[in-house]
Amino acid sequence: MNLTPAVKPVEETPIPAETCVIQIEDVHKYYELGETRVHALRGVSVEIARGEFVAIMGASGSGKSTFMNILGCLDKPSAGRYLLEGTDVSRHDKKALALIRNQKIGFVFQGFNLLARTTALENTELPTLYTKIDNSERARRASEALAMVGLADRAHHFPSQMSGGQQQRVAVARALVNRPSILLADEPTGNLDSRTSVEIMDIFQKLNDKGLTIVLVTHEHDIAQFAKRVLIFRDGRIRKDDVATNRPNASEVLKTLPTLED
Ligand SMILES: Nc1ncnc2c1ncn2[C@@H]1O[C@H](COP(=O)(O)OP(=O)(O)OP(=O)(O)O)[C@@H](O)[C@H]1O
Ligand SMILES: [Mg+2]
Repeated sequence: MNLTPAVKPVEETPIPAETCVIQIEDVHKYYELGETRVHALRGVSVEIARGEFVAIMGASGSGKSTFMNILGCLDKPSAGRYLLEGTDVSRHDKKALALIRNQKIGFVFQGFNLLARTTALENTELPTLYTKIDNSERARRASEALAMVGLADRAHHFPSQMSGGQQQRVAVARALVNRPSILLADEPTGNLDSRTSVEIMDIFQKLNDKGLTIVLVTHEHDIAQFAKRVLIFRDGRIRKDDVATNRPNASEVLKTLPTLED
C-alpha cells in the first residue's frame, strides 16, 4: 500500500532565526498616569528580517513612537516578548538595555538633537564615547560615517553653519558611527522640505542596499513609498502589513525635483 500522499501539503516556511533581527510577540504597553492607565500597544506581533526597510504609518496616538521606543530598547514592553537578534531583551534591566542599544541600534529623530557648540565631526563621535576605542579610531569612524552621508567636507562646521538637511545627515552619521544592525528613525523628515526629505530617503535607500535594516516612522505617503514594506498602526495594533510595490528610487526622484538654485 502506498501511504505517500499524491500532493504534498504546502508547508509554511518560518523565517530562519538568524535572518530575523526583530521578533515582537504579543507586545502590550501600558502607561500609568496617576489614576488613569493608557493602553498604548494592544498586542503587537511582527517579525522584521535583516535587510528590510519598513515604514510605519498611522494616526497620531496610534502607538508608533511607543513601538519604536521598545524596538530601540529605550523602553520595555509591559507584556509580551521582544527578541533582538535572537536575544530576549524584554526582561533586561536598564543597564543591559543601554549596552545593547549602544551596540546594535542607531536612532534618528525629527529634531536633529545636535550639540550646538560642537562640530559635525564631534557630534558624530558622541556615541563612541561609551565604547572602548582610542581617539584616533573615534575620529576615523566618525569621518567614515560623515562620508557615508555625503558630508566629508562639512566635518568642521557647527550646526548653525549647516542647512536643516545637512544637520539631519549629521544625525544619521551619528546614528551609524557604532555600526549598528538596525537604524530606527522616528519622523526623520518631519522638519524638512520635500527635496531635502527625498535626499534623506536617498541616503536610507543606499544604506539599506548595503544591508542595513531600517525602520522608519512617517506621516507622509510620499516618504513611506521609498520603503520595502509598510505597517499601519491603529489604536495600538498593526492593522495592515503590506509589501511596497513600484518602489521609487530616491536618487531618480531627486533628478526631477527643483534645487535651491533653480
Ligand atoms: N510617556 C507617556 N505617558 C503616558 N502616556 C503616553 C506616553 N507616551 C505616549 N503615551 C500615550 O500613548 C498613546 C500612543 O502614543 P505614541 O506617542 O506612541 O503615538 P504616536 O503614534 O507616535 O503619535 P504621533 O504620530 O502623534 O507621534 C497615546 O495615547 C499617548 O497619549
Ligand atoms: Mg510619535
